[in-house]
Amino acid sequence: MPEPRILSIGSINLDVQVRAPGWPERGGAGLASDCRLAGGGKAANVAYLARRLGVPAQLIGGVGDDPMVGRLLELLRGVDADLSEVLATPGCLTGVALIMTPPDGKKLILLAPNANRAWEAEDAPRVAATVRRAPAGSIVVVDFEITVDVAAAAVEAAHVAGLRVIVDPAPASDVPPSSLSQADYVTPDAEEARQLTGITARDADNALAAARALRDRGVRTAIVKRSGGGCAVVGPDVTASIEPEPVKAIDTNGAGDAFAATLAVALLEGRSILDAARHAVAAAGLTTTRYGAQASFPDRRELEEHATRINTRP
Ligand code: RIB
Repeated sequence: MPEPRILSIGSINLDVQVRAPGWPERGGAGLASDCRLAGGGKAANVAYLARRLGVPAQLIGGVGDDPMVGRLLELLRGVDADLSEVLATPGCLTGVALIMTPPDGKKLILLAPNANRAWEAEDAPRVAATVRRAPAGSIVVVDFEITVDVAAAAVEAAHVAGLRVIVDPAPASDVPPSSLSQADYVTPDAEEARQLTGITARDADNALAAARALRDRGVRTAIVKRSGGGCAVVGPDVTASIEPEPVKAIDTNGAGDAFAATLAVALLEGRSILDAARHAVAAAGLTTTRYGAQASFPDRRELEEHATRINTRP
């Protein structure tokens, strides 16, 4: 029997990241520091961390045919992610994320999707077929920084095949209602939750209210991430807040992807949703303590150790 795996479907980007005191005035220019070029994109980040945590992971998405690609996929090859469904679109640039981290660590991203959105509705059946071929028990993680028809088809294929599917509703404005209701878990951050429900997940009570509002919109289990760490989990037979262990956050880039990957890994390993969410909160918190996305992800030992300090509040 083939081993269950994580299928990560969504964006693959080159992250161009800098630190700066803020954006320059309109029409002006400013100086930045610490410029890094790194592999990024939500789906690539999820596949990378899943592999680092030791579970089989396949990445599904589009890249360009530019010279950046080799460098971008190097790290993923290094952790032995399955890249057989990472396809290059001729004449297209790979996605590029321009990321600025201000002194408070709350990153801002300008994304040029490029090849991520070069796939068309005609590509959806191929991606759906890949999902259907996944071994029983696999978990599918989907973000919407790619062609919406393709992402929606992946969610539907997983739902119909009886595979658990996690939807990272980013960008929230692009997620169709059908994908929200077909997902087993929907994991908005505070801003995405506000866009989807009108409720800002500032604290535990607001996050719970936003999660309940998502349930009212047909979401099976809503997991709303709070801006300062922690999350609310509301599902068919669970309502709880996961409280973060305070950390010194210097860069939030990649924290949401660390959350999604760790949630998927923990569920694949048979943990309960609350235990999985505790581990996800731990991974996201640790990721904010370092600069960059993939470069900041914790290893297994660090994750398990930090997770022991994350508490659940009913
Ligand atoms: O979630 C972080 C990721 O979002 C970055 O790596 C960037 O590429 C964007 O897709």
